[in-house]
Amino acid sequence: MQQRRSTSTKSGETVKPLGTAIIGCGSISGVHLKAIAGLELAELKAVVDINESLAQKAAAEYGCDYYTDYKEMLKREDIQVVHICTGHYLHAPMTVDALRAGKHVLTEKPMAENKASAMTMLQAAQEHPEVQLGVIFQNRYNPSSVRMRQAVDSGEFGKLQCMKGIVTWFRGPGYYETEWKGKWATEGGGVLINQAIHTLDLLQWLGGEMTSVKGTISNDSLEGVIEVEDSAHAFIQFKNGVRAVFYATNAYGKSAPIEVELVFEQATLSLRGDTLYLQQDDQVTVLAEPVKNDLGEKAYWGMSHQYQIRDFYEHVLEGKHFWIDGPEGYKGFSLVMDIYESSRTGQKIVYE
Ligand SMILES: NC(=O)c1ccc[n+]([C@@H]2O[C@H](COP(=O)([O-])OP(=O)(O)OC[C@H]3O[C@@H](n4cnc5c(N)ncnc54)[C@H](O)[C@@H]3O)[C@@H](O)[C@H]2O)c1
Repeated sequence: MQQRRSTSTKSGETVKPLGTAIIGCGSISGVHLKAIAGLELAELKAVVDINESLAQKAAAEYGCDYYTDYKEMLKREDIQVVHICTGHYLHAPMTVDALRAGKHVLTEKPMAENKASAMTMLQAAQEHPEVQLGVIFQNRYNPSSVRMRQAVDSGEFGKLQCMKGIVTWFRGPGYYETEWKGKWATEGGGVLINQAIHTLDLLQWLGGEMTSVKGTISNDSLEGVIEVEDSAHAFIQFKNGVRAVFYATNAYGKSAPIEVELVFEQATLSLRGDTLYLQQDDQVTVLAEPVKNDLGEKAYWGMSHQYQIRDFYEHVLEGKHFWIDGPEGYKGFSLVMDIYESSRTGQKIVYE
């Protein structure tokens, strides 16, 4: 890889690119690696995986060093940013170690496998304000998400009244043949924490402060294969009077486009996949469409990793606080955890 000596940020300031490392060279790592390769603000120095052949392959492809022990990588002074692309139960210990080693951290969603682990990340970030913690929720950068948020904030269609979110995907037994998926201790849940967390995060981001959630989970198609749920539904109420219903499953026959509907006083916005439709006065028009990229992202993951990764580096280089930080990343994650608790107890979770 060619060395990058200097580059400039959005504000035009000339800066040295940040040295970067990725921990975890599995499925999602390719998206991060390609985004970094196309980002002049970053220079990939190393990749890490306990599976040496995976680490070696990524290092050869992207022209960087490789490690099998992330703690060895953390000793390098030329690495300032660490991306965490491992199973959920590893996000917390790796994040805490990296923050303590003076590295900025961008971790994949969800923050962790349970609230206690996530708290250790929030605490470490608080104890190390000299570095930043960012959490991947790339779908907030989709043009459709930005447009939905704009409609809510501007009030152009009147007040938001209610929302629905529907995720009907397919994950067969083969998907769970890894050391960490399908188990409470390591994945922290099933369809909610892994696949549908993006849609729940959008609902809470658009709806604002919540007053309560009641939810139920079940394992409809993978009994005996996974410990965790493959299906879930929830009812969420917000302080502003908005109510939302939500359904997610991995038991469908295909991974269908995600559906979100926002009903305003004077119009309805419907998201199908990454295309946002406006329905007003018996007319339907397209309000936002996806931007194509070549990161190899599957369409149902959303296509916006590169935008969030760039935004994170811009903030770090300009010394500005990144907006999807620990507490912000915790919101969608804790909603997932609260649906699990509600399902376990049969009770509605009420927020103060
Ligand atoms: N944002 C999205 O849309 C999106 C999409 C897919 C996955 N993800 C997230 O990305 C993360 C990784 O998922 P994945 O599907 O790539 O998982 P994966 O199992 O394919 O990859 C994880 C990798 O981590 C490696 N690993 C395990 N222990 C390690 C250690 N101690 N040190 C270094 N490497 C270690 C494994 O060998 C494996 O190669 C998860 O948090 C997942 O939820 C996010």
